[in-house]
Amino acid sequence: MTVVTNETWESWLGPRRSARLAERYGTPFYGYSARVLRNRCRALRRAFPGALIQYAMKANSNPALLRMIRGQKLGVDTVSAWEVQLARECGFRPRAIVYSGSNPSVEELRAVHRAGAMVNLDALSALHRYGKLFRGAPVSLRLNLEIGGGHHPHVVTAGPDSKFGLSPEELPEARAIAARYGLKVIGLHQHIGSGVFELALWLEAMDALLEIAAAIPGIERIDAGGGFGVPYRPEEQAIELGDWGRAVTARMAAFNAQRTKKARLVLEPGRFVVCEAGVLVARVTTVKRTRDRVFVGVDSGMHHLIRPALYQSWHPIDFYPHRTGTPERVFVVGPICESGDVIAEERMMPVPEEGDLLVVGNAGAYGYAMASHYNLRARPAEVLVDGDRAREVRKRETYRDVVRARDV
Ligand code: LLP
Repeated sequence: MTVVTNETWESWLGPRRSARLAERYGTPFYGYSARVLRNRCRALRRAFPGALIQYAMKANSNPALLRMIRGQKLGVDTVSAWEVQLARECGFRPRAIVYSGSNPSVEELRAVHRAGAMVNLDALSALHRYGKLFRGAPVSLRLNLEIGGGHHPHVVTAGPDSKFGLSPEELPEARAIAARYGLKVIGLHQHIGSGVFELALWLEAMDALLEIAAAIPGIERIDAGGGFGVPYRPEEQAIELGDWGRAVTARMAAFNAQRTKKARLVLEPGRFVVCEAGVLVARVTTVKRTRDRVFVGVDSGMHHLIRPALYQSWHPIDFYPHRTGTPERVFVVGPICESGDVIAEERMMPVPEEGDLLVVGNAGAYGYAMASHYNLRARPAEVLVDGDRAREVRKRETYRDVVRARDV
């Protein structure tokens, strides 16, 4: 039984080191652990032998991390022309890249095709466009089999209300369009959502996909998507990746036993690869008491980590140095002019002092990747910790980076 434990950041970024890094690079910064990242890649490869694991780079597209992930023999799942371009620049070969963008423009389809990446298409009109442009090309079809899941309604990507995927009823027409242009349907794809903990649900979706694939000759790729849940709250259990792997591998074997041309399992995990490898480190600027609350104001907020504001996500936090006062109901908030600018709410902990550091865990996925310039603030630096060494893998933005207008 492989239990992937909730690896906390203290093993690579304790109070002393975070203080040193904050001194060297300023705050706020995202810190990443090379060790945790490599371990996650290895765990996936071990659990799904023979599968093509295409890391969903939307979760974190820092080039240094992408190079490490490529070094761990993972491919990459992309959703924009620039993600494809960056993947190529980070050394991913065309056949290691899949593109699963939503509502792509013609220019984007051209760029993806030019780069030689595999495409997952999910609209009949997109198939027409692609077929006219690239007669005879291989394609994979994204399906919506109405089995969805995930940690928040915003991240459920299948079901009757979802914009993603072709319905099974559309499949005959999709295949007819493909045939008309000589497109070869070599793959089927689905992604049910993000932050899925229920193996049974994920398998139900995979079974539905395999059942459809069984009726289509020429299928070489069964792309079952990503979505593997990662625990954020202490009471959440890590998924048992070994069980997950065995169940999925057995299904693929049973599927392939019926076929002369064997299909390869493809997976697209994003969060699972990078989430626990990353933290956000910020400085406490202001401690302020109102009648009912203790607000701990920090120099980072929803513009750097939007997940708490957008999905009410709970992230583990700590303050360094550890204070010993009586725990109080602490609200950690940022510098943005919105009341929704929260990082953590109602945490019972000793109140930090101004100048202390805040560390936010599980920030490696959908952290920097979703950061913005709101309120005209810079995106933070990114620092990679590898053993005893740390290096800045992206600089904090400057005023000029952010403004970018010619006529200031
Ligand atoms: N494949 C496709 C087609 C996807 O759309 C996604 C995520 C993934 C793979 C990777 O899913 P993962 O393994 O990371 O769960 N911003 C949200 C998550 C949005 C995910 C969107 N699609 C969050 O912070 O929770």
